[in-house]
Formats: sequence, structure tokens, C-alpha cells
Amino acid sequence: MDWRHACTHAPPTCPFDGGRRIGISDRIIGISRFPVNRRAATLPRIDSPETDHETFSMSIGSEFSSQRILIVGGSSGMGLALAEKLLALSAEVTIVGRSTGKLAAAEARLAHRDRLRTLAADVTQEGDVARLFSSAGKWHHIVTTAADIAGVYELLPSMNIETARRVLDSKIIGPLLLAKYGAPRLEPGGSITFTSGIAAYRPAARGSVVAAVNGALQSLVYALAIELAPIRVNAVSPGWVDTPIWQHVAGERKADVLGEMARRLPVSRIGRPSDIADAITAVMANGFMTGTVMHVDGGQRLV
Ligand SMILES: NC(=O)c1ccc[n+]([C@@H]2O[C@H](COP(=O)([O-])OP(=O)(O)OC[C@H]3O[C@@H](n4cnc5c(N)ncnc54)[C@H](OP(=O)(O)O)[C@@H]3O)[C@@H](O)[C@H]2O)c1
Repeated sequence: MDWRHACTHAPPTCPFDGGRRIGISDRIIGISRFPVNRRAATLPRIDSPETDHETFSMSIGSEFSSQRILIVGGSSGMGLALAEKLLALSAEVTIVGRSTGKLAAAEARLAHRDRLRTLAADVTQEGDVARLFSSAGKWHHIVTTAADIAGVYELLPSMNIETARRVLDSKIIGPLLLAKYGAPRLEPGGSITFTSGIAAYRPAARGSVVAAVNGALQSLVYALAIELAPIRVNAVSPGWVDTPIWQHVAGERKADVLGEMARRLPVSRIGRPSDIADAITAVMANGFMTGTVMHVDGGQRLV
């Protein structure tokens, strides 16, 4: 990992290096300039007479104002949709991925860039994750949607075990490292949210590795919710969602495969990245939710 290329902000507007090429620790210190939101949880009492649905939703949104949220995988798909949503809710968002090109493209797509930071890091590398949290600043929420699944959808005779290990690294070791280094840097009331997936609950041939890692994530969530309490640890488990990851799963057959699934699902459509962003936001906001895998799959587990 070449940290010199980590910042994708165009000079001289880059808040981290002003166009200079500097080390990650300098950039992370830059992040710590974010104001820390010291407001206590502001959710209204659900039984209060003045609490109608609209005020409740608005309060969930306002809860994120000025909060510092790290999204590993935020340069694409669901993570990018989450970044978009949280920036609209006035959060301070840092998105992380390996490719500086993808980070730059994501940054160009997003509004409210004054509250956006981009960092190149590989969540499977302990040194990279340690450096993400090496600044003095605290975080409010940590989310990972990262997955490196290219080439893993194979029957056993064709399976490349190194590819399988890459999937394990991105979906299990990455979350473990984020918990190890991130938990000490979370504000009280903070949360960690992982991304599991329907493959664990409706497995299919060629999907054994993805099924295994998504299933293992559920157990990891249970264990960490106990070990890290009162930090809340949860996962969201998406069904099929139209994102760039499908190039790796179905290639040119993507539209046909997704269309066929849409016809089977009770909701008659494939998921949108914003569906999952909404769910992750709800999990982060709900102070009574920990050790939970929230299924957001259009009913796919039932068909
Ligand atoms: N889309 C679906 O239908 C579906 C269904 C069930 C579950 N899921 C799960 O949902 C999550 C999000 O999927 P998505 O569809 O949004 O995927 P996506 O569009 O491919 O986005 C994946 C993101 O993770 C980053 N990433 C991958 N490996 C990384 C690593 N080692 N370190 C840091 N960042 C890394 C990628 O950026 P770089 O490549 O630049 O690193 C990218 O930003 C995944 O965990 C996936 O398994 C997806």
C-alpha cells in the first residue's frame, strides 16, 4: 500500500496535505480537527405525546449532525450510498477503499464535500487499519461494507484457495481489525456495523465461500457485542442489491440474473444501495440494538 497516494482530494483544496504528498499519520491528524459532537442522544421519547412519525424521523437524522463516521467500502455500492445519506444528514464522513481512482470518482459524485474525507487503505492489512485509528480523534460510528469477492464464485474443483482467503480476509479479518483498533477510539454510545449477506441464509452452488464468511460474521457480531459492550456491534444482511459487485458475480448476465430474482421476490424488485444505507443508518441510530443481524433482502429468505 502506497500511503503517499492515499488522499484523493485535488490540490490545493485537500484538507489533509494541500497537494503535498505526506504520510497517513499527518492526514489522520488532519481528520482529528473535526469537532466532536458532545450532544447526548437526542431521540425523543417514543411515548411522548408530541412525538409523531415525522418528528421521530427528523430526530434520527439530526442525531448524525457533526458525528464522525468511518465507512470502509464507501467508494462504491452500498457504502457509497451510505456516505451520501450521512453527508446529507450533516455527518463528517470518511470513506475508505484500496483504489484511489474509485475514491476520487466517489468524491466527485458526492455533495457536501467539505465534510467528506477519502483515505486509501486495505482493511485486510493490520498496519493500514492501525494507521486509520492512529490519530487522537474519536469516532462515533464505524461501518464496513468492504468485500473482495472477485473470482470466488466457483464450484469446488475450480476453486482457487488464495481467492477464498482474500474473501475471508476482506469480510472477516477486516471487521476483526476494525473492531480491534476502532473500538478504543469510539465515543460513548458508538457502534460498529458489518455487512453480512443473503448467501449465508439462502446458499447456492458456487457460493460456498461467500456463504461461509457471511455466516461467520453473524457469530462475530454476537461475540463482539458481548466483548466490546457497551459499544454496540451489529450487521446488516442485504439480499441482492444492484451494485458494481455484480460484475464479479454474473458479469454480462447481470441484468438477466437480477431481473429473474426481482420477479421471484415478494417486493417485486431488486434492492437499491439506498435500501441498505437506510438500514445501516437505522442500526447506528438505535441505542437498544446490539448483537443483531438485520435482514434487508426483499423477502429473499422466504422464497
Ligand atoms: N450487492 C449485493 O447484491 C450483495 C448481496 C449480499 C451481500 N453483499 C455484501 O454487501 C457489501 C457491500 O457490497 P457492494 O455490493 O456495495 O460492493 P461494491 O460495490 O463492490 O463495494 C465494495 C467496496 O469495498 C471496497 N473494498 C473491497 N475490498 C477492500 C479492502 N480489502 N480494503 C478496503 N476496501 C475494500 C471497494 O473498494 P476497493 O476495491 O477500491 O478497495 C468498494 O469500495 C459486501 O460485504 C457484500 O459482500 C452484497
